[in-house]
Amino acid sequence: MPDLPAVAIERLSKSFNGIEVLRDVDLTVNRGEVVSILGSSGSGKSTLLRCINWLEQPDRGAIRIGGQRIGVDDNGRRMPARELAALRAKTGMVFQSFNLWPHLTVLHNVTEAPIHVKGVAKKEAVRTARELLDKVGMAHKMEAYPYTLSGGQKQRVAIARALAMSPEVILFDEPTSALDPELVGEVLGVMKDLSAEGYTMVVVTHEMEFARAVSDQVVFLDKGIIIERAAPEQFFTAPETERVRKFLELKQ
Ligand SMILES: Nc1ncnc2c1ncn2[C@@H]1O[C@H](COP(=O)(O)OP(=O)(O)OP(=O)(O)O)[C@@H](O)[C@H]1O
Ligand SMILES: [Mg+2]
Repeated sequence: MPDLPAVAIERLSKSFNGIEVLRDVDLTVNRGEVVSILGSSGSGKSTLLRCINWLEQPDRGAIRIGGQRIGVDDNGRRMPARELAALRAKTGMVFQSFNLWPHLTVLHNVTEAPIHVKGVAKKEAVRTARELLDKVGMAHKMEAYPYTLSGGQKQRVAIARALAMSPEVILFDEPTSALDPELVGEVLGVMKDLSAEGYTMVVVTHEMEFARAVSDQVVFLDKGIIIERAAPEQFFTAPETERVRKFLELKQ
């Protein structure tokens, strides 16, 4: 089904304690596309990403991953746990805070889910992990524990770990925000490589240059509503709203 979008979100709404943090969000991410989600703190960016892989359950609306609706079916019936887990595994998530398992080596961080969640044979999981760690420039640290790594190195391992599940889309939530400035570039470099290889990515970021260079689509969330969406050139050179103009001015 090559023409189905990797992610299709229709009229997604979500409230916390009676406060609506996402309202009627529509978003289509085609295969091979990079979509950047911008917006100020509290605008709903993380909640949107978390809804895509069902870490949060939306109140209304539908989310389809590769055409398959996640969480509930069109009649509102809950998806069986196994099916939900399989569909969730089609999305990989990379967090600001890395979330590596501290008691596992780099290699084991990457092989853990393929072996224990997907049932991949150990030998094959190790082979894939080596390739992926090589791709992110971390093959030399396979036996190291996370606490011995720099933030940039941890994040590159976290990216390899997400890739190890062969996700159809990778969701990045501010992957460089916790890093020292000199380490940001190495992680953005890996992400650029992934986009060039055709990975489908949804990226919440404050790195404007990156968003401009790599995205196919830029989306701006303001108080839970998408108020602009455009190709990067247009978004960055000719924003339509005063809100986005102000946001971009502050980022310069
Ligand atoms: N589990 C939760 N319970 C209650 N409120 C929540 C929860 N998660 C998020 N919120 C609220 O929803 C709103 C949107 O939060 P979200 O984390 O999606 O924003 P964000 O755009 O990712 O912000 P930031 O740039 O600071 O990460 C905020 O007001 C936040 O306080
Ligand atoms: Mg956030």
